[in-house]
Order: sequence, then structure tokens, then C-alpha cells
Amino acid sequence: MSEKFSWEKLKHPVVALAPMSGISDSPMRLMAKKFGSDIEFSEFISAASLFYKTENEKSFALAHFLEEERPYIIQLFGNDPAHFKVATKILAEKYKPDGFDINFGCPAHSVVNSGAGSALFCEPAKAKQIIETVKEASGGLPTSIKLRAAYKKIPAAEFINNIQGAPFENVTLHMRTYEQLHTGEPNWDTAKELKQILKVPLIINGGINSGEKAKAALEYTGADGVMIAQASLGNPFIFREIQAALNNQPIPVTTLQERIETALEHARLMVQTKGPKHGVIEMRKHLAWYFKGYPNVSELRSKLVRVESLAELEETLKSAVFSV
Ligand SMILES: Cc1cc2nc3c(=O)[nH]c(=O)nc-3n(C[C@H](O)[C@H](O)[C@H](O)COP(=O)(O)O)c2cc1C
Repeated sequence: MSEKFSWEKLKHPVVALAPMSGISDSPMRLMAKKFGSDIEFSEFISAASLFYKTENEKSFALAHFLEEERPYIIQLFGNDPAHFKVATKILAEKYKPDGFDINFGCPAHSVVNSGAGSALFCEPAKAKQIIETVKEASGGLPTSIKLRAAYKKIPAAEFINNIQGAPFENVTLHMRTYEQLHTGEPNWDTAKELKQILKVPLIINGGINSGEKAKAALEYTGADGVMIAQASLGNPFIFREIQAALNNQPIPVTTLQERIETALEHARLMVQTKGPKHGVIEMRKHLAWYFKGYPNVSELRSKLVRVESLAELEETLKSAVFSV
């Protein structure tokens, strides 16, 4: 039997694919893993959804993963410890993930208005209770938290001080504030400051889009890992680029042929996981990302976002003329 996962024992620096709702599903995670992501997170799952409907197929589809994705962490969001208790128990028993992550970073109106995500910066006693609840309801699994650099006037370091004693074993910091949403310049100093007060590993996130940037951000902040979201869209190659940079190795070049083969492999995984119709429909946005940036491919991209089947996709890519 494989050794039990722990954040402390995970190789450092960690390179991780970020949780992304509607995007970082099992096929995307498998592609990230293939190219060098060290740990995988589910898309966020509402704790309330499982509290109110314990046989919730939609939540189960989000939690689904394959053994080769391990270490695999399920991320939950919500506002009520009672909801987290039920959701964690159900998912821990059904899926046996390697750990749970709690979202204290989401800025979406629908999430923040329900008091969840980054709004929990304002309710540290409840946030602490949620972490304790997840730890206990999971049977003691490694529990981690994902934060924003600040929510309104509350910086991440203040929030960490306010939840002292909570049983979390890793922190991921999105180095942008709540107001910045997912764009704008991340502030590396927020991670540097947080690293100095944390007793657990810190993963930094936000705007990391190259091996060089990952290396520079790790050096500047002293953090233990990097997490990549938007730079991985249609670009699982970013993980091997970062791993190469961190190991002082030459950055591998991605050929057009490899990009086509990778997109097709991703599409096949989509079809296996979600079926021939939904798999292809959900793959369309990834296809547009895979071939973004090539000159004169607008016609190809408009075909790709309309493909109806795997066979049609294979044919479209085979007959495509790229000007590189
Ligand atoms: C479409 C989208 C969906 C996201 N969904 C989640 C989510 O479910 N859970 C989470 O913690 N963060 C989520 N995030 C935030 C990312 O994990 C990450 O923190 C953010 O995009 C900054 O990283 P980047 O600059 O590398 O993109 C999402 C971001 C995007 C763009």
C-alpha cells in the first residue's frame, strides 16, 4: 500500500494545477499530471449542496477522480460548519481523497454574498470551526486552506493570526486581493510576509505563467511551491517548463505536432469521462485555448469550437493548415 499523503512530505518545491470551477476536471488534471503537476485539486464543491441533498450526482461528478491523479485533494466551499461536516463525511467515505482543502479565496458575488469564500475573512471564529470540522469529519486527513492576499481591509496575515490553533497543514495564497479578482498584478510581498509567520508550507499562486517567473517568485517569497491556473489553459506544457526551470534544466520546446497530439489525448479523456456528446462539447473551450496564439488559425478555431464528435475533431486537426 502506498505511503499516506502528508503536506510536509510532499516534494519541494511543489508545482500544482489550481482548482478551477468548470475547468480543472479529471481529464484536465490528468493532462497536468502527465506534464509534471505534483498534486491535483478538485473544482470547488458546495458543502451546502451535499448537506441538502446527500445523493447529489452533480457534486459526485465534481469529486470523481482516477487513482493515477493522487495525491488528490477535494476542495469545499461554504459558510456553515454543519454543512461542511456532512459534505466532508460523505466525500471522505465515498472517494477516499488524500486531503481536503477549504476555499477562503473565492471573490464571486454568489459565493461571497452567501458568506462563503473570501467573505469568511470577516468571520474568523467560524472559519476556524470549519477547519476543525473538516479535519474531524474526514477522519484526520490533511487539511489545507486557500486564501486571498486580502479581503477588503483584512490582509491574509491578519486572517491567519485570527484563526490561530486551527488544524490546517498547508496554505495556498492567491497573491491578489479580493478586489483584483483573477487579473491585475499579484503582490509577491504578501506571500513573503505570510511565509514569515506560517508554521506550515506555503504555496503561492497568481500570475505565474513561465518557468522563470515561478523560480523568481519562489526565490523572492521563500514559499514552498507554486500553483498555476490561467497559464495552464490549453497549456499543460507549463508544468514541465516550470519543473525544468526549478531543476536548472533547459526548457523543453513544444512542437505543433505535440500540441495536436496532446489536445487529442485530452479530448479522448473527456469522452471517456463525460461521454461522446458532453465530452466533446466540454472540450471545445479547451481546443480554442490549445490553438490560441497561432497566426492565421481563426478559421480552424471557429471549426474547433463547433466540433460534434471525436472523429470530426481528429479529421479537423489532421487537415488543418497552420502557419507557424
Ligand atoms: C475560471 C476560474 C475558476 C476558478 N475556480 C476556482 C475554484 O473552484 N477554487 C479556487 O480555489 N479557486 C478558483 N479559481 C482561482 C484560481 O485557482 C487561482 O487562484 C486564480 O486564477 C489565480 O491564479 P492564476 O493567476 O494562475 O490564474 C478559479 C479561477 C478561474 C479563472
